Amino acid sequence: MVTSELDNTLEDWERQVDELVRGISQITSLVEIEAIRVTWLGRRGRLTLLAREISPRIRALGALDPDTQRRAGTKLNTWKDAVTAAIEARKIKLDRAALTARLAGERADVTLPVLSGGAGHIHPISQTIDEIIAIFGEMGFAVAEGPHIEEDFYNFTALNIPPEHPARQEHDTFYLPEREDGSRLVLRTHTSPVQIRTMLARKPPLRIIVPGRTFRCDHDATHSPMFHQVEGLVIDRATHMGHLKGCLIEFCRAFFGVDDLPVRFRPSYFPFTEPSAEVDIGCLREGGQLKIGAGADWLEILGSGMVHPRVLLNCGIDPAEYQGFAFGMGIERVAMLKYGIPDLRIFYESDLRWLRHYGFVPLDVPSLVRGPLPAGAMP
Ligand code: PHE
Repeated sequence: MVTSELDNTLEDWERQVDELVRGISQITSLVEIEAIRVTWLGRRGRLTLLAREISPRIRALGALDPDTQRRAGTKLNTWKDAVTAAIEARKIKLDRAALTARLAGERADVTLPVLSGGAGHIHPISQTIDEIIAIFGEMGFAVAEGPHIEEDFYNFTALNIPPEHPARQEHDTFYLPEREDGSRLVLRTHTSPVQIRTMLARKPPLRIIVPGRTFRCDHDATHSPMFHQVEGLVIDRATHMGHLKGCLIEFCRAFFGVDDLPVRFRPSYFPFTEPSAEVDIGCLREGGQLKIGAGADWLEILGSGMVHPRVLLNCGIDPAEYQGFAFGMGIERVAMLKYGIPDLRIFYESDLRWLRHYGFVPLDVPSLVRGPLPAGAMP
């Protein structure tokens, strides 16, 4: 009978599939498993072909009762699932075994001494910038940045240094070639253009510091054509000279780590501030050594002043409503003073011996929170 003929075929296949599934669980090679997958489940695999073969036959055997038909279809699906599952299960087992074997081979002896000498160092300039940011960050300043190649307007004119102003000569500016309209871009000679960019872009109150590269056509033991400055700007309704002094005294003492560091404000001139003051810190020069702190001498480290009303107007800020202060300092200069680095040129020579000596440990991130916690304090 046709039904029993089909039954025989199905029984035969059932046996083969059972054997196959049992066989798969014994296989030890991933290549062999893949070969079995292709032979049985691939596009021209045995079960795939069987499906193709059975279905027309089922159709031809019109006499076959619907139950038998359904049984044949179901069986085929069950076999495919069984073979697929057996292959997957075996693959996972073999993968895991391979990983375990690899890990066992690669076991590290954590009791061996650490290999030293591989760690890099943080350059003193980067370290000093991070320290300055940490201190002003605590005071609520945000960090701002601006382009190194700058429009004349931001670097000079808006800062109350019009063309022909003598201050332009003092800046030893690097000019780029003339553009079609006759104007020339400059390599910024200070970080002050970022004051202008910030005031034009944002409404007061403002409290920013701007660490970054600056450029002047100058080269000797204390000057480099590329150097770094950090600019500060505070604008608010009632900001006054007392805030300027308090802020900068606090900064100098925190930066040099001397709580009673003498700080002096000396009248000065900058076109973009009025009044202007240069800031000196106390020091002692003795036997060729320089000691920062109380002493007979002074060291200049900062330029500062109340933002000139004309600069505020240039940025669309009403000087009758707002005022503020600004300051700028050379990062190399304060780094040299703090870390006793005698020559500025060495900063850029990429001398590894120097960097190993003066560099900083990468994970020693500057912060104002240092030292042991008080007993009982939560970390
Ligand atoms: N831009 C000045 C300089 O480079 C420093 C400065 C900034 C002075 C802000 C006063 C206020 O010399």
